[in-house]
Amino acid sequence: MKSMPKIELHLHLEGAAPPAFIRGLAQEKHMDLSGLFNPDGSYRFTDFWDFLKVYEAATSTLQTPEDYRRLTLAVLEESAANGVVYSETFLSPDFCGGRDVGAWKEYLHAIRDAADQAERQMGITLRGIITCIRHFGPDKARETAVCAAETAGDWITGFGIAGDEKVLQPKDFLWAFDCAREAGLRITAHAGEWGGPESVRAALHDLNPERIGHGVRAIEDLALVDELAERGTVLEVCPGSNVALGIWPTFRAHPIGKLFDRGVKVTVSTDDPPFFHTTMAREYDMLSDAFDWDDSVFATLNRTALDAAFCDTDTRSKIA
Ligand code: HPA
Ligand code: ZN
Repeated sequence: MKSMPKIELHLHLEGAAPPAFIRGLAQEKHMDLSGLFNPDGSYRFTDFWDFLKVYEAATSTLQTPEDYRRLTLAVLEESAANGVVYSETFLSPDFCGGRDVGAWKEYLHAIRDAADQAERQMGITLRGIITCIRHFGPDKARETAVCAAETAGDWITGFGIAGDEKVLQPKDFLWAFDCAREAGLRITAHAGEWGGPESVRAALHDLNPERIGHGVRAIEDLALVDELAERGTVLEVCPGSNVALGIWPTFRAHPIGKLFDRGVKVTVSTDDPPFFHTTMAREYDMLSDAFDWDDSVFATLNRTALDAAFCDTDTRSKIA
């Protein structure tokens, strides 16, 4: 499965940082982050909320545009090695310069420099989705949206929301989403990972996103599943992430197959691969084993992802 060309729509840049990379940065900066790691070197966390804490602590080692340039190269190298030819990646002004527009532009410049290098050397294309973080609250999300609007363009193509779905409501972030939409950015929102169908409905009806990050707990309400299918809303499904965090015990128990069979536009991504001990190739292998999916199903999933990608038509035809 490694060699099959893959389109990935849902990857958090910091969440894709290999633990050894973060340990290296911590050492360079004389930070003691040993508590974040298991004895075997992997990230240590107990549940989703602990994962968010470890994620943010690991990210505290990323302090300069140069750190992000190196991170971006390391991440794209790993994605390319797994057959990813196009990666839509969540970028957060919260972590890149503290939502200061000037600093944000410097971080973005460094990330783009690395992405251009990766495209030349490894044939992988990156597009950025600027994401606000729900548990940081609406005020910070406004500043994030301003950063996004200031840098919207051919390379920054979307705006989204991640973080703790159990706090606040999508409608609390309307100003940020309106600002991003007015700047021409396309919209996705995390929902239906830790919140149930009501959380998916709120994101769908209040933010009107083209795509939903996860969205999988819609399966608890078949009327909602049918609504997603009718609207053509694309789900950025991350089965390995959901299994690693214990939402479902196995790939076989994961609802992606049922959602697909009922006509929902599903795609496959990794979310935060080293945290969840996964890669795009592993996701494909596990799905193939769990649902007996052959290459034609994966071709359909990739076609759906390509059609739903937030890039321009020239880029789309180049990667197709
Ligand atoms: N859900 C919400 N926020 C996140 C995630 C996720 O899966 N990964 C990184 N931030
Ligand atoms: Zn995510």
